[in-house]
Amino acid sequence: MLSWLKSKQNKSVLNIGYQTDIHSHLLPAIDDGSDNVNESLELINRLMAMGISRIVTTPHIAEAFPNTIKEISAANDILQKGLRANDIEIDFRYSAEYRLDDNFQEHYTNGQLIPFPGNYLLIENSYYQAYWGLNELIFKLINEGFHPILAHPERYRYYHNNTEFYDKIHNLGCKFQVNILSLAGIYGKDVKQAAYHLLNSGYIDFLATDAHHIRHINAIEDFIATSDYKKILSKVNLLNDTIPSFK
Ligand SMILES: [Fe+2]
Repeated sequence: MLSWLKSKQNKSVLNIGYQTDIHSHLLPAIDDGSDNVNESLELINRLMAMGISRIVTTPHIAEAFPNTIKEISAANDILQKGLRANDIEIDFRYSAEYRLDDNFQEHYTNGQLIPFPGNYLLIENSYYQAYWGLNELIFKLINEGFHPILAHPERYRYYHNNTEFYDKIHNLGCKFQVNILSLAGIYGKDVKQAAYHLLNSGYIDFLATDAHHIRHINAIEDFIATSDYKKILSKVNLLNDTIPSFK
């Protein structure tokens, strides 16, 4: 028996509080996430053990990871084969996490985006500098029928002293996806504080794992077992499970 199957059997019951995870890096060897199929399968099994039954994984599409739809689809084929070979039954699909850079503009202009069903689009900023014209871009995307979701707004430190910006963007109709790992304090105190600010402002529309590696899963397992996490769940009204099904 594979070691991760054995360890799964020893875990007590965990509940992440939603069934659809909308942000992760689980396709093998395509970005800074899972390195190979076995790692992907272990990550997926451990997510399933937390109560997740649907995954829309989101490989980076960015200047640093210029993945094409063809490359992403090929990595997904390899993973689907692994899921079948190991009798793992899960609704596993992909969209992407779009870094707002010139690469995004190219995909956007050429009509090559791969949104979630319902036209949800997961976008992320650079960690170092704000995207100039984010308000205008969000306005434009919404007018064109997209539903932008800003990935981990709490991780952009340049907004920490400018929390009105969160109000502005959220009021424009942009949804916010907060990382569970941020609330757990994994990225530092300041990011945790910003995540709690979003929680207390009623701005957490989606929670997600943003799982890249086993160490992320270990930290999430520890945190979702705490009473702090249960309190968080009682304060949010998550949209995770309202994402429409793939056709
Ligand atoms: Fe991510």
